[in-house]
Amino acid sequence: MLNPFLLMAAFYLIVAIVAVADAALTSFGLLPWFTGLPWLRVHFITIGVFTEAAFGVLPAFLAARRGAPPPTTRWDIWLLLNAGLVVLLAGIPSINPALIITGGTLVFIAALLLILQLRGLGLAQTPGNGSLKFYVTGLVYLLTGILVGTGLWVGWSEPLRIGVPKEVHIHANSWGFASLVFAGLLIDLVPALTAAPLASRRTTTSIFWAMALGALGLVLGPWLHGNLFATVPGLVLHITATVWLLVVLVQALRRHGLFARAGAWHLVVSYVWILLPVLMAPLILLGVANVPGADIEATAPQALVYGWMLQFFYAVTPYFVARWLLRDANARLGGNWLSLAAVNLGSVLIWASIFLVEIRAPLHATSYVLLGVSLVAAAWETISITLTALRRAEQSAPQTA
Ligand code: HEM
Repeated sequence: MLNPFLLMAAFYLIVAIVAVADAALTSFGLLPWFTGLPWLRVHFITIGVFTEAAFGVLPAFLAARRGAPPPTTRWDIWLLLNAGLVVLLAGIPSINPALIITGGTLVFIAALLLILQLRGLGLAQTPGNGSLKFYVTGLVYLLTGILVGTGLWVGWSEPLRIGVPKEVHIHANSWGFASLVFAGLLIDLVPALTAAPLASRRTTTSIFWAMALGALGLVLGPWLHGNLFATVPGLVLHITATVWLLVVLVQALRRHGLFARAGAWHLVVSYVWILLPVLMAPLILLGVANVPGADIEATAPQALVYGWMLQFFYAVTPYFVARWLLRDANARLGGNWLSLAAVNLGSVLIWASIFLVEIRAPLHATSYVLLGVSLVAAAWETISITLTALRRAEQSAPQTA
């Protein structure tokens, strides 16, 4: 049985290429601006590629860790997630509250059912790599992010007393959901690539607590109107955890000579794009002159989504599709030198556009051309593996006259 979540992730990877091409054409003035498209572009990747892939891979990874076969597909979860996403794709650009609430609720229930599925797999007691707590806590942050995101344009923020709701949404999803799930994926992925654990159980547990509590501070900070007593310890804990994770990751990949290929570089370099806004945050909080805080807050999320999340997925998606669609036991990291150069140069130009105000439009346009090139270069492998798997599935299906 093909993993339908991964098929959808491959599908949204293709949709993301179209959306990025649209961004380039809009910035060059070749297409008219359309309100709502930035939301679509970001969420094709964050929900379409990332959330779909996470939903497909987490149960399979946890079962593999126990030596059990992949659990059967939860079509109820698949339907809720995908129906919710389609309803949101219609509701958010048109700012239709009924559709936004319906879509957000469907995705929320899907995430809740996934948490129950993971716990129900009975793996909590199994001694393993310790990734389960990363996944479950990450998904709890996703629930928070969905709740706040759904309320963003339908006025829930006031009754919930959320000071800066958009920031709470971004922080819960990026520093809570994505950071923790990525760390859990690395804990499960590295042994599969190197036949050795990423780090000792004690190290990964310390990273978990620093990252989970750091994310809590970073969510509470904007929730409490920029409260520094929550934000500052949150920042310190989160940076410590991320740098620590990177150090053990680089050591593990280097020991096994994996830096000879672009995939390992994609994984490691992607973290520059989450550390950069975190390192800029103290300058914004302290109001340092010449640091355009408002422009950084408006533009940095794009570099975060493309430079970090998408780049991380350039490396891991071909691995996931080869392993769970093609059943390839020797699956390896994806990406190539062109995708590596283009995605990072594109992200540099997004950041440059924050500071070079006079040439902002051409910088933006060029960055989206580069991001489009990187997407095509990296997605090629995923698409061809997916097509091979689909052809095999068709050929092995019983034929009727
Ligand atoms: C049901 C799910 C979700 C809903 C309803 C939702 C809703 C929203 C809304 C309304 C905005 C504000 C757009 C604006 O003000 O321009 C937004 C922005 C954003 N969301 Fe979500 N979102 C969801 C899931 C996610 C997920 C899963 C992630 C990441 C893993 C994410 C990451 C972001 C980011 C990074 C932005 C900022 C984009 C920018 O400013 O360029 N969202 N979301």
